[in-house]
Amino acid sequence: MIITIDGPAGAGKSTVAKKLAERLDFLYVDTGAMYRALTLKVMRGGVDFSNIPEIVALARKTKIRLQASALGQSLVTLDNEDVSAAIRDPQVTNAVFNIARVPEIREVMVGWQREYGLSNNIVMEGRDIGTVVFPQAEKKFYLDASVEIRARRRYDELKEKKVTITLIEIIQQIKERDYKDKTRDCGPLKMADDALYIDSSELTVEEVVGIMFNWVNHEKKK
Ligand code: DC
Repeated sequence: MIITIDGPAGAGKSTVAKKLAERLDFLYVDTGAMYRALTLKVMRGGVDFSNIPEIVALARKTKIRLQASALGQSLVTLDNEDVSAAIRDPQVTNAVFNIARVPEIREVMVGWQREYGLSNNIVMEGRDIGTVVFPQAEKKFYLDASVEIRARRRYDELKEKKVTITLIEIIQQIKERDYKDKTRDCGPLKMADDALYIDSSELTVEEVVGIMFNWVNHEKKK
């Protein structure tokens, strides 16, 4: 069974997808981590983001693995190196767009993502999972939240990490990421026609997971 969760940055996709996968005993797949890991490799290799043929060749030689680690954290490895923390660096976050907008690179990524669905029950989250990667998925969700709520959540997270940034700056960054995600020509963020829309602005993580779990079970029984 394939369950897809798409939505904008900061809507809480990773948190709920992980919990839903745990509850169902499905494999959790974070596709954003794949785009991030390749971006990190390109940056480390000093490859120019405009050099698409070289990046595609690099992608084909790259081994990106997503695994559940002890303590319920997800482990991301790039050519066998643990890059789980490195891919969350703000420099990587700001650069992923250069990779995510290139059709040839998305094609490679989509191929890897489909492989996960061949022999596993999965909960896969991203931007184009229900529309492009698995249009035939049994259950699709589109998880949303207002810009202000997403910015506030991010602000609280960063404050805990002692990062100094204002709420206004975060709102601006989120609006820019939304714009880039929704307007790229290839694999833009878009709700699939058959997805269930959930606005998490006023809901707890447990409430969102509960709605998803019930909807999936309802589907299983049909
Ligand atoms: O979900 P995230 O913020 O970790 O994703 C990182 C970046 O990758 C984000 O800029 C959007 C992009 N992305 C994408 O284009 N398609 C996906 N399926 C997943 C992520």
